[in-house]
Amino acid sequence: DLQALHGLERGRLRIAGVTTTEYFIARWLRRYTDSHPGIDIELAVDNRDAVVRRLQQDEIELAVMMMPPDNLPLHRVPLMRNPLVLIGPAGHPWAGARRVARTALNGQALLMREPGSGTRLATEAYLHTHGLTPTVRATLGSNEAIKHAVAAGLGLAVVSRHALAADPAHDGVALLPVVGFPIERRWLLVWRSDRRLSLAAQRFVEHVRAHPPDEPDTAAAAGA
Ligand code: PGA
Repeated sequence: DLQALHGLERGRLRIAGVTTTEYFIARWLRRYTDSHPGIDIELAVDNRDAVVRRLQQDEIELAVMMMPPDNLPLHRVPLMRNPLVLIGPAGHPWAGARRVARTALNGQALLMREPGSGTRLATEAYLHTHGLTPTVRATLGSNEAIKHAVAAGLGLAVVSRHALAADPAHDGVALLPVVGFPIERRWLLVWRSDRRLSLAAQRFVEHVRAHPPDEPDTAAAAGA
């Protein structure tokens, strides 16, 4: 029986996820390890550019990210939605509005993730497309640092909805209903099409295809 055969497999799954995946990736790995107990897991968590470098240098076989590079031949399996929301400190006057015009962002203090972050790339693309000119007040190297800085009133920021509690008030922040938010993105499972996957990685791809990860409740609430 297939399940029993999987149980006898040995190997190592080398996978990396962008930083926002750390909030849920353990749940998928748990299900995979239940049916493949002989396979060790090595998970790297990094920003987008660092994950791309790991793929280029064959340090990992599989990656989960939202903006794969164009310069590598890749297979892609679409996974969950990754809505990027605009947040401000709890009690921010825009939080109670039904809609806020994009141009309200001009001149606002904005906090950005570090260069190399996919969240930053998506935020810059949004600002550029709409010709918006907030003032970048600070650059912070993690989603947690961004959340705390927003809660402390340093500025507004764009983060993955998955990086926030189901009730963002628990993080001391509020979702701001500026037109165009949430920015709708999706994570993809990717691997190089010019490499042969190890058995452990093949099994993980099959596993994710057979058991697509659930959309957590927070994704449904992203538009709120
Ligand atoms: P990052 O992750 O901002 O940590 O790079 C976002 C992404 O690329 O999905």
